[in-house]
Amino acid sequence: MSKAITITIDGPAGAGKSTTARRVAERLGYVYVDTGAMYRAVTLAALEANTPHTPQAMAALMPDVHITLATDDRGQRTYLNGRDVSDEIRRPDVTGAVSVVSAMPVVRRAMVDIQRTIGANGGVVMDGRDIGSVVFPGAELKIFLVADVAERVRRRLAEAQLRGEQSDEAAIRRQIVERDAYDSSREESPLVKPDGAIEIDTTNLTIDEQVDLIVDRARKYLSAYNLVSPFFKL
Ligand code: DC
Repeated sequence: MSKAITITIDGPAGAGKSTTARRVAERLGYVYVDTGAMYRAVTLAALEANTPHTPQAMAALMPDVHITLATDDRGQRTYLNGRDVSDEIRRPDVTGAVSVVSAMPVVRRAMVDIQRTIGANGGVVMDGRDIGSVVFPGAELKIFLVADVAERVRRRLAEAQLRGEQSDEAAIRRQIVERDAYDSSREESPLVKPDGAIEIDTTNLTIDEQVDLIVDRARKYLSAYNLVSPFFKL
């Protein structure tokens, strides 16, 4: 039985976190958790209930918001009060509002509790903005993924195209820049490079290359652990 570690992957929008984290989890046989999807599902709940994006209104809404996650052959599925909202949470209006909603402490506390429960026994690859800094500061392997804005815009455009959506390059660029600024400057759990995180610039890397880099690090960690801790079985 191997010791299952916790791997955190943080970084700005479009740095390749989700695809990389999912593939790393597949390679290691770990569970993949996309925490951005959880904040998106809360945002969808607020939009559907016409809840103003204020801390008071969100505090009143949160007891009625139940987010659960499951995995099938398409990857992580995200449920809002039992309804699969995995596709709806990618809508542009959700993307437009998620930074404001996710900055609220009442929202973050609820999501962080769920994330800590899911990751309590290790064996997870969790991606987000505050996973290595706040959710699992003691994680064995922390990754901070970054990429040039131009490359991140290109990736978001390609994703939108795959979903068959009309997309406007200038609007995507504006949204990425605004979201980066908002996520990095908010008071509660801002996007930062976590202490002890390994920074990987993915601008010129393929997904396979970035996955290999992280899996190699994880394997090195696991075998080093084996060498220095003969009492632990891996
Ligand atoms: O990764 P994403 O684009 O799906 O994330 C959506 C938003 O959720 C992002 O703008 C910031 C927020 N988020 C967060 O605040 N903390 C996380 N751990 C994950 C996402």
